[in-house]
Amino acid sequence: MNAVPYGLRCDHRTTPLGVAGLPLLAWRARGADPISFQVDVDGVWSSGRVTDPAAISVRYDGPPLRPGTRYDWQVTLWGRDGVPGTARSWFETGLDTWSAAWIAADPDAVEHVDPPTEGELALPDHGLQPCPQLRRAFHARSPVIAARLHISAKGLYEAAVNGHRAGDGRLTPGWTDYRRRIQYQTLDVTRWITEGENVLGVTLADGWWSGFVGFDPRRPGYHYGRFPELIAELHLTYADGSAEVVGTDAAWRVGRGHVRYADLLKGECHDLRAATPGWDRPGFDDSGWRPAVVTGRDHTLLAPSPDEPVREVREIAAVALTRLGPDTHLVDFGQNLAGRLRLALPESRPGARVTIRHAETLDDAGRLDTANLRTADATDVLVSAGPATVFEPAFTYHGFRYAEISGAADLGEVSAVVLHSDTPWTGTFSCSDPEINRLWRNIEWGQRGNFVSVPTDCPQRDERLGWMADAQVFLPTACFNADVAAFFAKWLRDVRDAQTPDGGFPNVAPRLSGVAEEGAPGWADAGVLVPWHLYEVYGDPAFLDVDSMAAWVDFVHRHNPDLIWRARTGPHFADWLAPGPATPRELLATAFFHRSADLTARAADVHGRTADTERMRRLAGDIRTAFIKTFLLPAGRLTGDTQTGYLLALAFGLLPPDQVAPAARRLAELVEEHGPQTGFLGVNLLCPVLSEHGRADLAHALLRRTDPPSWLYQVRNGATTVWERWDGEGAASMNSFNHYAFGSIGEWLYGGVAGIGQAPGSVAYRELVIRPLPGDLSWARASYESVRGRIAVEWERAEGAFRLAVTVPPGATATVHLPDGPTHHVPSGDHLFRSTQETRP
Ligand code: BGC
Repeated sequence: MNAVPYGLRCDHRTTPLGVAGLPLLAWRARGADPISFQVDVDGVWSSGRVTDPAAISVRYDGPPLRPGTRYDWQVTLWGRDGVPGTARSWFETGLDTWSAAWIAADPDAVEHVDPPTEGELALPDHGLQPCPQLRRAFHARSPVIAARLHISAKGLYEAAVNGHRAGDGRLTPGWTDYRRRIQYQTLDVTRWITEGENVLGVTLADGWWSGFVGFDPRRPGYHYGRFPELIAELHLTYADGSAEVVGTDAAWRVGRGHVRYADLLKGECHDLRAATPGWDRPGFDDSGWRPAVVTGRDHTLLAPSPDEPVREVREIAAVALTRLGPDTHLVDFGQNLAGRLRLALPESRPGARVTIRHAETLDDAGRLDTANLRTADATDVLVSAGPATVFEPAFTYHGFRYAEISGAADLGEVSAVVLHSDTPWTGTFSCSDPEINRLWRNIEWGQRGNFVSVPTDCPQRDERLGWMADAQVFLPTACFNADVAAFFAKWLRDVRDAQTPDGGFPNVAPRLSGVAEEGAPGWADAGVLVPWHLYEVYGDPAFLDVDSMAAWVDFVHRHNPDLIWRARTGPHFADWLAPGPATPRELLATAFFHRSADLTARAADVHGRTADTERMRRLAGDIRTAFIKTFLLPAGRLTGDTQTGYLLALAFGLLPPDQVAPAARRLAELVEEHGPQTGFLGVNLLCPVLSEHGRADLAHALLRRTDPPSWLYQVRNGATTVWERWDGEGAASMNSFNHYAFGSIGEWLYGGVAGIGQAPGSVAYRELVIRPLPGDLSWARASYESVRGRIAVEWERAEGAFRLAVTVPPGATATVHLPDGPTHHVPSGDHLFRSTQETRP
């Protein structure tokens, strides 16, 4: 058996277009342990044969890559048998310089939504502008062998070439703080270009740029810009080797199509009577359209998108359709999700209006309950032109399980299109308790519903912000579920873009004027905790920006020279939504201060920055001493005596060795007495810390508890996603049914129940620790497509014996702990254990 590479990735993505800088070239392996590798980028660079049994990637180290160029590359692995295994892939570089102009519809000629005609109901007035259509006809003088469209917008764009959609991204170019960075996408549109006349057509919408964002009721345009703008360059390569660029400029024509308004929170309206069929194809008469206005030529903020876009990942059919009235219907998709409807409608009277409203839940009368949407109207409207049609909004998304469709006596097919950032799924989990399996699926759906360009808190109400604590506590779960390396690489840029010059991290990223303040403990600290965890899971030191991490720690230090984090550097959300007694704020904050200093020291060490390592290590030590002096009481007690207090102190290593056991015992007492009492900042630690300290039984009891507060209380009450609050009770305005923070228990399902973990100090799953915690379940299985290769665990109790099957990927070893039994050290491969002994697989 030889070592065979597979799953090749460039900068954490499969065959990306638009690569910049020196890409990281990575592979997974199957078969035997690789001992050496070689990476060849055809024609430009070879790593040479490198002996490194731990390697899973190498950074390109050749001459500068040419812009807009496709590179093919190959990985070769050799194991002990010396037989090479190879796999090939490719990537393409992005643009180095732009020449195109930013263009827009003439802002002074912005036509607002028409007033209603007689007998027509007014459309909602959000102050939104119709979505402009921008078109450019051009001539291809001879056959084209390659065509790449580099495109971005301030706002959202959807592009077509000769009527064919360019790319499969949705809500592109994605959300960033557009004052700092604007992402562009590179799309392969070769197959849509023909010799002769061609047309590029782009529709723009407000999106995050000029639409409603977050809970700020201020007018659109307040956060970033006032009206959408487009930039694009189509690079054509002819068969004869010559090239041509068609860029955005004043020669583009602008018209107004059928999208009367589109907003992420408010919803979208199509008036098909105003449709302009054929506008994005050759032969359309655009003489009545206006010329585009050039708004600028600044390219400094443009950067290639480092992650996969939001895509349509699934379409799900309605599970129930109920008629509520002659022309009103209620649709139930059986699943709370983020996305939008695809609705077939029969022929109707021109001007007839169909309205779709969305909600996560129903009220007692069986009608939509929209109270928790706050100012997000989440209402889509179609005004018919007469013929049958399929309605699907393009520039909005909603968080919903139910939809009410009014204005149509009869409906055709109704489905929900699920949208999220396209992160390859890597994890599976199931066990003998169907309710826990439902919980796992709810967690997975929470991730799908909230990874929409940025990790959001919720997809339904007027918030959907990149809240940093939510991301930080959920990250380990997210990393098991999916390969989120590229998604978080992008978000970390948002986080660093939002860092203040004096080092303060925000509480939400991307930054939004009027919303983001710095520095809440556990929120802002995500700027350190997130890169560290990504490094541990994916093994890429580039996640660790030591300067940025150290600047944050120094920022907190400057405000709190006595090392107890008291100073308010911004809001303090404490242990958000904890149902129990409040953890003292200074204790909680100081624990995170220590954690950030400690992880920054480790990050500096990874990069060989000795002075920073020493300085941060000393600081972390001093914070720990101050913590002990200030918050530790006799007998392992902590000020406040709360679960989250003990969890943070134990998980972050803040206690003197002789106080660890008493503190863990006290934690267990509190959990036994009250059930879970943590909010967002303790919940991810609850089961891991209990089992770490010998109380896996209690962790299992928590997992299987069905009284509120508990995870299965939600499941028993019909949850199909994880709720914002343990019990789903409380003011509607803060009662989202799709918030993933409490879903951070997912980490323990993989890592505790199934038992997939890494040894302390191990990176990229080089040294596995397999320690299943069966509790009183009768079987469990989980698999995880790690950066190294496939890890799998399957255990069952049968005929009085415990059977365990483990798959260890090539290049890894595992320490397998059998429950109440011995420990085995095993190499890569498949292993089977029965009761206490390893048997032959
Ligand atoms: C969000 C949370 C967030 C919190 C900060 C809430 O409104 O929904 O998820 O972390 O604010 O306190």
